[in-house]
Amino acid sequence: MSENKKKKLAVAKIKNGIVVDHIPAGKGYYVLQVLGLTAYFADKMVSAVINAPSQCKGYKKDVIKIGGELDQIQLEKLGLVVPGATLNIIRDYEVIEKRDIEPPSMVRNLIDCPEPNCITNVEPKEPVRKEFVTINKKPVTLRCCYCDRIFEVDLSSIRGTS
Ligand code: CTP
Ligand code: ZN
Repeated sequence: MSENKKKKLAVAKIKNGIVVDHIPAGKGYYVLQVLGLTAYFADKMVSAVINAPSQCKGYKKDVIKIGGELDQIQLEKLGLVVPGATLNIIRDYEVIEKRDIEPPSMVRNLIDCPEPNCITNVEPKEPVRKEFVTINKKPVTLRCCYCDRIFEVDLSSIRGTS
């Protein structure tokens, strides 16, 4: 069997859904977690390939295939976890849309500000929304709208990963 054929068999095509491709090797697990796909009651069919060989020699990637749709919040979380990966929308076995995954320009309520004295962290919690402006896409860097703290997003700070 040719090398190409073997690779295709390792990653079966899906009929309908979403393929998150070009995930840096090792981050696929966080994608599953942040999308809630590891939960016992998750209802979508998922296949995950960890350490798939990629076109470029010596480079490995993770690929997550989801038999279903993702909502807006899940798409925003993807943008925080794997900016630069590729989102493919599959309909009837065809890729009908392919786009680069980017963080949202504003991040609302998905993460906590790392500044302990920020009003959004003060107890009793103020009824303020946690809002951040994205000032760099990769690595994803945010500025808190309340205390102006600038920080890089780390995976454990995103809701759903802890
Ligand atoms: N895919 C799939 N099921 C389909 C069609 C595509 O699972 N019915 C997957 C492919 O295995 C690949 C991704 O979706 O991981 C993108 O498919 P395609 O655009 O055909 O592949 P490439 O041209 O290699 O993509 P790129 O140029 O983005 O690397
Ligand atoms: Zn803050």
